[in-house]
Amino acid sequence: MSTIGVDIGGTKIAAGVVDDDGAVLARTRRDTPATDPEAIEDAVADAVAELRAEHDVTAVGVAAAGYVDATRSVVVFAPNLSWRHEPLREEVEKRVGLPVVVENDANAAAWGEFTHGGGKGSRDMVLLTVGTGLGGGIVLDGELVRGTGGMAAEVGHLRVVPDGHQCGCGRTGCWEQYGSGSALVRWARALARTEPVAAARLLELSGGDPDAVMGVHVTQAAEEGDVAAVRLVATLGRWLGEGAASLAAVLDPGLVLVGGGVSEAGDLLLQPMREAFAGALTAAMHRDLARIDAAVLGNDAGMVGVAALAARP
Ligand code: BGC
Ligand code: NA
Ligand code: ZN
Repeated sequence: MSTIGVDIGGTKIAAGVVDDDGAVLARTRRDTPATDPEAIEDAVADAVAELRAEHDVTAVGVAAAGYVDATRSVVVFAPNLSWRHEPLREEVEKRVGLPVVVENDANAAAWGEFTHGGGKGSRDMVLLTVGTGLGGGIVLDGELVRGTGGMAAEVGHLRVVPDGHQCGCGRTGCWEQYGSGSALVRWARALARTEPVAAARLLELSGGDPDAVMGVHVTQAAEEGDVAAVRLVATLGRWLGEGAASLAAVLDPGLVLVGGGVSEAGDLLLQPMREAFAGALTAAMHRDLARIDAAVLGNDAGMVGVAALAARP
């Protein structure tokens, strides 16, 4: 039997019909309406209706970039969105007339990778989604870790720098401020402003405007071998590796997967991450190091994972 998975991203809502094997049978997209939760719920319902016209489905899973409560119903808080106590499950159920499960986007992606992607066959794994925010999903002993209030695995808000950069969650120094696509863009823009010669290629890609430098410009320039861009991506990789070492000190996972747009930079990101991980991990000389790899489902991970969660009893 198939279910529908819906991944609400900052710019796009991706929805797909997913079968038991994790295969995406059909897909559609909507632009994410700015700020207004009701407009987002309407867009989700509209995408679901389009898919249901051609496919029989039993349930809908919705992945959202925020803290989801223990009943998997309410987006309680979203650091990078305007959602506060949004009853997403109820609102979408009302509109589509099917059972709905809501899950944190990174938890959903971790479950997608674990069941149908790069985590297949592993038992304990961590997935990091590196995008606007830094999301985390933890699978231990083959189960998603959700915590008492549904808010476990908010790894992006580990404090890694006392009195550090202001975070969207209201605190300062969160890992997300150093280990996300937003951090990469912040550094790249600063470089373009202060060292335009070093940042010449980035400025070329952004049309000359330092504030128009985007994450894709940095990854593209890095792939071309541009020295400044390679360094920026490596810096991000090091922040990810250091933080992952702290996670490994607690969880001892066999596998750390990295997803999100920036992970397309591949080894330019992952190699510095692996080195920083080994350098920062406690007892690194006396243990097997977790494998650190790119997630394999790419942008589909959240959609596939939340569809799989909706299919579970
Ligand atoms: C949010 C998480 C989310 C992550 C990735 C973080 O800022 O706190 O809930 O999973 O961004 O979207
Ligand atoms: Na999470
Ligand atoms: Zn934070």
